[in-house]
Amino acid sequence: MKIIGVLGAGIMGNGIAQASAIAGYDVILYDIDQKFIDRGLGEIKKSLTRMVKKDKLSESDIPEILGRITSSLDLNDFKPSDLIIEAIPENIALKKETYNKLDSICSAKCIFASNTSAISITDLASKLPEKRQKRFIGLHFFNPVSMMKLVEVIRGERTSDSTCDESLAYCKKIGKETVIINDLPGFATTRLVSAVINEGVYMLQDGLGSPEEIDKAIKLGLAHPMGPLFLADLIGLDTILHILDYLKDELGVKFQAAPLLRKMVRAGKLGRKSGEGFYEY
Ligand SMILES: NC(=O)c1ccc[n+]([C@@H]2O[C@H](COP(=O)([O-])OP(=O)(O)OC[C@H]3O[C@@H](n4cnc5c(N)ncnc54)[C@H](O)[C@@H]3O)[C@@H](O)[C@H]2O)c1
Repeated sequence: MKIIGVLGAGIMGNGIAQASAIAGYDVILYDIDQKFIDRGLGEIKKSLTRMVKKDKLSESDIPEILGRITSSLDLNDFKPSDLIIEAIPENIALKKETYNKLDSICSAKCIFASNTSAISITDLASKLPEKRQKRFIGLHFFNPVSMMKLVEVIRGERTSDSTCDESLAYCKKIGKETVIINDLPGFATTRLVSAVINEGVYMLQDGLGSPEEIDKAIKLGLAHPMGPLFLADLIGLDTILHILDYLKDELGVKFQAAPLLRKMVRAGKLGRKSGEGFYEY
């Protein structure tokens, strides 16, 4: 494996491109508009500079790392890729349509990986020819990619052993720990964190205590790095509601979103990004 294609230069895509380039891979970074590529490359430069300050890289490494990243606005440029990691918005139809286009461009050997937070990998691959479904896998990175150690590796129903082995070798080369899990919506991490946040919102709704008290209890009493309501504001309440609705459809009523969460999203209280959520910013 030499060439990694990254679809989407947003929060996750630019982090994945950076980690791959640091490990020595040639990277093709694609987005739909030059302004998104420029923003992604700007984030990579800032992150590399921070790594130099923390002595994780030397200044002289930066031009070489950046030199390994080629940007693109044309899906045809993915043709030589050995592995394509998709990090475009969490929209099933958009993702499936993009894989279909790529299937006719890329070699039969090329692995398609999705960084989806929750969507079933088997479903995402389902419209592709059977041969490509064998070369399809979930590689779930965490934010920020440069700091978070884990990649959750999700095997779809038809993912082949060789696809899994080659993907694990890639994760190892970029310095990540892995867990290999079977395909169920939400995987391990998103499923649990959604349930924890939802229960935190129910606790608030039931009058158990203020956001500060609930978060402090969970942070100090259970040694979580942050409380569920603080975390909800950080992720975005709309994103959490979207995931809970999907998990309820797929896994049942235990993922029924707290009415308070839905009400807040309807009122435009989305957390940090809107300036107001369970806390004010
Ligand atoms: N943000 C997180 O914390 C996080 C963590 C793990 C997984 N994810 C998942 O990663 C994926 C990307 O999330 P993100 O937070 O990086 O989103 P983002 O909005 O920051 O970036 C998405 C990028 O995709 C681009 N894009 C839109 N349509 C496209 C298309 N058709 N082809 C190519 N690029 C397109 C956008 O211009 C944007 O630059 C989602 O599936 C999300 O669920 C996000």
